[in-house]
Amino acid sequence: MSELEGKRVFVTGSGAGIGKAIATLFTQRGARVVISDIDADAAKKAAEEIGAAGVANCDVTDEGQVQAAIQQAVALLGGLDVLVNNAGIEVSSPLLQQSTESFDKIYAVNVRGPFVAMKAAIGHLIESKGNIVNISSIAGIGGSPLLGSYCATKAALIQMTRVAAVEMRPTGVRVNAVCPGFADTAMVERLVPDFEAATQVPFGDLVAMKQGRLGTPEEIAEVAAFLASDRASWVTGSHYVLDGGLTASLV
Ligand SMILES: NC(=O)c1ccc[n+]([C@@H]2O[C@H](COP(=O)([O-])OP(=O)(O)OC[C@H]3O[C@@H](n4cnc5c(N)ncnc54)[C@H](O)[C@@H]3O)[C@@H](O)[C@H]2O)c1
Repeated sequence: MSELEGKRVFVTGSGAGIGKAIATLFTQRGARVVISDIDADAAKKAAEEIGAAGVANCDVTDEGQVQAAIQQAVALLGGLDVLVNNAGIEVSSPLLQQSTESFDKIYAVNVRGPFVAMKAAIGHLIESKGNIVNISSIAGIGGSPLLGSYCATKAALIQMTRVAAVEMRPTGVRVNAVCPGFADTAMVERLVPDFEAATQVPFGDLVAMKQGRLGTPEEIAEVAAFLASDRASWVTGSHYVLDGGLTASLV
C-alpha cells in the first residue's frame, strides 16, 4: 500500500513551488489532495497537471476565505486527514528599515495564515486523528541579514507547532514543522539580487559554501510526506531540518 493511501489532504499555497511539489508527491503516494492558492490560475493549472482531487482557493490572510476553503475541501474529500500550511511570502529588507505595513503583511501570511487554518481544520482533524505539517524554514532557527521579519515569522511558526502539538496530544492529532534551507523556487530567485548586492558574493557561491547546492521542492515534499504518514505515528511537536548541513556548521 502507498504511504499516503486514502489520506484526505488540503495544502495552502500549492499552485507553485514547494506546495505544488507536496501536492504532487502526496497524490503519487495515494493521497487525495485539494489544491489551494491565492493565484486561482496557478491552482487550476497545478490541479490539472497533478490530477488533484479538487481546488478550494483562499488568501490565507482572510480568515473567512480560509474557513470557506477548508469547508469546501472537507465536502469534496468527505473529511480531512492532513492540513499542510505551506503558503508563505518573503520580504528582503534590513529589519529596521522595513515598513510597519510590510512587517504586518508578512505576519498576516506566514503566522496568522497557519493559525487561522489550524483553527478552521482542527475539528475535522480530531475526528480523523489526522495531522498538520507546517512549512517553516531554517530562517526560524538562525538569523540572516535581509530576512529579519521572515526569520521572526518562521520562528513563530515553529513555536505554534510545538504548542499546538502538546495541546492536541490527547486528541491524537500530530503537529510538525519542516525547516528547509534555500530551495530552487521562485521565492529564492526573487531574493538573489538583494543578497548579491548586500554581500557582494555571487549567490551560487554563497549557496555552494553554506549548503552545497539548492534543495529541490521534491526533497522537501519527501519530508512532509513522511511527517503526514502513519510512519511518523510518534512524531509530534518536531521541526525537521533539511539544509545540506547549513545549520550544522559555524563556518
Ligand atoms: N524556497 C525556499 O528556499 C524556502 C525555504 C524554506 C522555507 N520555504 C517556505 O516554503 C513555503 C513555500 O515557498 P516557495 O519557495 O514554494 O514559495 P513560492 O513563492 O515559490 O510559492 C508560494 C505559493 O504560495 C502562494 N501564496 C502566496 N501568498 C499567499 C496567500 N496570502 N494565500 C495563499 N497562497 C499564497 C503563491 O501564490 C505561490 O503559489 C513558504 O512558506 C516558504 O516560506 C521556502
